[in-house]
Amino acid sequence: MFATASATAQPTALPKDLFAAIEQLKKDLNAVVLAHYYQEPDIQDIADYIGDSLGLSQQAATTKADVIVFAGVHFMAETAKILNPDKLVLLPDLEAGCSLADSCPPDDFAAFKSAHPDHLVISYINCTAEIKAMSDIICTSSNAVQLVNQLPLDQKIIFAPDRNLGRYVMAQTGREMLLWQGSCIVHETFSEKKMLRLKMEHPDAEIIAHPECEAAVLRHASFIGSTTALLKYVERSQSDRFIVATEPGIIHQMEKQVPKKHFIPAPPEANCACNECPYMRLNTLEKLYLAMKNQTPEITIPAAIQDDALAPIVRMLEMSA
Ligand code: 13P
Ligand code: SF4
Repeated sequence: MFATASATAQPTALPKDLFAAIEQLKKDLNAVVLAHYYQEPDIQDIADYIGDSLGLSQQAATTKADVIVFAGVHFMAETAKILNPDKLVLLPDLEAGCSLADSCPPDDFAAFKSAHPDHLVISYINCTAEIKAMSDIICTSSNAVQLVNQLPLDQKIIFAPDRNLGRYVMAQTGREMLLWQGSCIVHETFSEKKMLRLKMEHPDAEIIAHPECEAAVLRHASFIGSTTALLKYVERSQSDRFIVATEPGIIHQMEKQVPKKHFIPAPPEANCACNECPYMRLNTLEKLYLAMKNQTPEITIPAAIQDDALAPIVRMLEMSA
């Protein structure tokens, strides 16, 4: 019997102990694994650093590693590459995009921006490199209020792409801003009604939320913050139980850091697992291993936008120091 090409093609064999193999590759490549809290627990456990978007950017800006393995979504790995144009930046699955970044197409945004030439552009880091290159300052959910408060009161501002974070920042700062109408499919999925029903079942539970959630959810939250801020809050709060309105990947760290407390994921509107980010969850430990072993998929940034995309990120890092 003749062997066909497809029958003979061997997939790359996976080692039995992926954790040990990844640790070895970290040494061989002088690589660092940076992971967001929304990654699956195994990836969080193998990471050298786990954090929110700001923390991850700060790590990427200062790392001495030659290779950055980014366990997160595309815009996060892109930010690491913009900060490190000469380093190899790997993303375990190139399809790990972001609905919020997709909700701001560069051509449409360029037209919006040129219709308001007297406005300064602040863009949430959850956007593509093209949008960053059209922005004056990048922000994250942990420093958006702080950065807007540093701008002169008469400065007109465009805030893109997340309308929910934009609305939250307006309420916190008392500033009017022109909002791009983008949003995240995960954070807009939470049901206010189901969450309140859950709260009636657990009256002792505190509702905590990420500012990408809609105003109807945020108004019930006793604490609103970035993923890192939520994690710090559950440690210091007197409460033992929390309803967590953000991607439930963060609960892995919450349970590790305060094992005696209880965490309930806020329920989505439909009967689905749509409170899990479908992009973040594309990365797996196997894909992370293969990305390191084969040194691909690699993130690249077009030379034409590299400098323009870098400047507003550097401005953010300076303004939040
Ligand atoms: P953080 O700023 O909390 O990391 O938020 C990132 C994100 O993608 C939320 O959806
Ligand atoms: Fe993007 Fe939403 Fe996923 Fe965050 S949770 S990466 S904003 S799709």
